[in-house]
Amino acid sequence: MRSRILGKIELDRARLAPDLEYLAAVPTVEEEYDEFSNGFWKNIPLWNATGGGDDRLYRDLDGAAARPTRHAERVPYLRELVTTVFNVERVQMARSRNLKNAVVIPHRDFVELDRDLDSYVRTFMVLEDSPLAFHSNEDTVIHMRPGEIWFLDAATVHSAANFSDVSRQSLCVDLAFDGAFDETYEKEVFADPTVYAPGATPDLPERRPFTTERRDALLGLAGVIGRENFRDILFLLSKVHYTYDVHPAETYTWLVEIARRAGDDKMVEKAERIRDFAIGARALGERFSLTAW
Ligand SMILES: [Fe+2]
Repeated sequence: MRSRILGKIELDRARLAPDLEYLAAVPTVEEEYDEFSNGFWKNIPLWNATGGGDDRLYRDLDGAAARPTRHAERVPYLRELVTTVFNVERVQMARSRNLKNAVVIPHRDFVELDRDLDSYVRTFMVLEDSPLAFHSNEDTVIHMRPGEIWFLDAATVHSAANFSDVSRQSLCVDLAFDGAFDETYEKEVFADPTVYAPGATPDLPERRPFTTERRDALLGLAGVIGRENFRDILFLLSKVHYTYDVHPAETYTWLVEIARRAGDDKMVEKAERIRDFAIGARALGERFSLTAW
């Protein structure tokens, strides 16, 4: 995987606490790409293209500056972090993100946008310690620790899960560069050069080997799957790679095969479509239903 730790800050817990309280009190609404997740998934825009407090869609800014939303006014500590730690001229969007008792299906981001995928840079910083909250990227599962600032390679296959209801509030700051993001650009993520500290050792949980027996057991879900539980099976399969050492994109290989073995052509077609939508190409604003047949 190309995801890596770019730097680290010491979070000021006393100043963070009231910001977390405000974020927890913002009502939960339907998310853009809500079809990617089940359980509790809440994104609150702090900076975006329009300054709209309800505008959750990532858009290309084409050189314009991102605008603070009404929520940014209410989280003074996070506002300070965004404007002093990060190179604010490069910031495209900043938002808080939380996930509880939930999994986000393996997917790729930015595929609906115009620019070279490599010029989009997503950084992710967990604000709270949630021991059962993980990210995955290609062949690796990650447990992010509070204060670590990660480059999350969202253009490749990734996913997130929190197997508990322990809050995992996070600050996600998206930046864009004129060329492909590489080591020469890494420093430019930060306004504060003391934060840049690449090469730290990440916490990468051990996983069990993925065996043929395990795969066969999963494919046995062909005897269980139906249109009424198709969505549940997708989320179940999306969790497998957090425990077993297997690529997250395999989620869709299993789903298609399970639907095929169940003998339902409509389910096969839906499984192939969700695969293409999540990890292939999609149009900006395109939506997908897991439950309409
Ligand atoms: Fe994503």
